[in-house]
Amino acid sequence: MPERTNRAFHLVQRPRGEVRADGFELRESAVPKLEDGQALVRVLMLSLDPTIRGWLNEADTYLPAVKIGEVVRAGGVGEIVESRSERYKVGDRVFGMTGWQEWAIAEQGLGAMNVLPPGVEPADALGVFGITGMTAYFGMLDVAKPVSGDTVFVSGAAGATGSVAGQIAKIQGCRVVGTAGTDEKCAWVKDELGFDDCINYKTEDVGARLDAACPKGIDVYFDNVGGEILQLALARLRQGARIALCGGISGYNELDPPPGPNNLMNLILNRARMEGFLVLDYVSRFPEAMAQMGAWLAEGKVNNRATVVDGLENTVEAFQRLFDGGNTGKLIVRVADPS
Ligand SMILES: NC(=O)c1ccc[n+]([C@@H]2O[C@H](COP(=O)([O-])OP(=O)(O)OC[C@H]3O[C@@H](n4cnc5c(N)ncnc54)[C@H](OP(=O)(O)O)[C@@H]3O)[C@@H](O)[C@H]2O)c1
Repeated sequence: MPERTNRAFHLVQRPRGEVRADGFELRESAVPKLEDGQALVRVLMLSLDPTIRGWLNEADTYLPAVKIGEVVRAGGVGEIVESRSERYKVGDRVFGMTGWQEWAIAEQGLGAMNVLPPGVEPADALGVFGITGMTAYFGMLDVAKPVSGDTVFVSGAAGATGSVAGQIAKIQGCRVVGTAGTDEKCAWVKDELGFDDCINYKTEDVGARLDAACPKGIDVYFDNVGGEILQLALARLRQGARIALCGGISGYNELDPPPGPNNLMNLILNRARMEGFLVLDYVSRFPEAMAQMGAWLAEGKVNNRATVVDGLENTVEAFQRLFDGGNTGKLIVRVADPS
């Protein structure tokens, strides 16, 4: 068999502020020979997630920082093309930490990948059935716990996580209001996802619009962005409100941590709860969430969209879109077509 060549993005310089193309090098190398227990994965799609930005910093977070010279860590979907493992057979589609590259090795134990059930499209495996779908599910249902009649506010509403989180709140019988960065995104959020209202946070007065859209106040805030929008939500809490702190993308490229909200007293006055969560803590319950998500998809209760960028070589440019709002729904890079 001819030797295969891998192309991979290696981190060569840590970003200061926004991610730039010169922080990465696209290098070619021979695909390593398999050892016992390993399988070779042809990467089909990469999941671009804001959390990768944190892994590029020097300090470890909930996972170790990517080291200088290493392939950038990322989730992805691929197909098994060779196997010396009982866990994987040739033709299996797998999900796991493929990294920003064309070929990856699936192992046993640490480095193991999950075999996708038949019929799951790679884009769905990264979206509604992937990390962002699972985050929406557990963040909304386990952390925020909306009940019918609640007013639920979701920032980043046109993104992968927010779009699903808001739809789950609609399924629970809530009034759901979102924020997004363009009128087109807001139209999608309202017309196709069924949110009751959506505020363009870049062009509208978010505080005034929240007052109008949530006249009784906010029972649940699903926070994807942090910063000013969190401050505005805190100012409008109802008694017993829950804030699920999912992410704070407005601060990910800041060199110094932005100042925190100065109105946390509202949590006390309203006997409210603000709780951060990490979806990784729910891995053992992913099958339950996937089954429910599959049912909602089949019933047409969850609408699902991806922004797909073609070509591994465009990964860095695609990643920058997360921070300028150039994606609607799940942002994916297509590395190769299924064979
Ligand atoms: N806790 C967890 O376990 C967990 C797991 C997955 C994701 N997350 C977090 O969830 C959030 C969403 O992640 P995702 O993967 O679903 O990404 P995403 O929402 O699909 O994409 C990011 C979106 O954020 C918006 N954005 C960028 N800069 C912003 C700013 N300064 N202010 C407000 N909005 C901004 C952009 O949309 P606009 O056009 O609307 O600006 C962009 O499309 C992130 O904070 C991420 O870190 C947390």
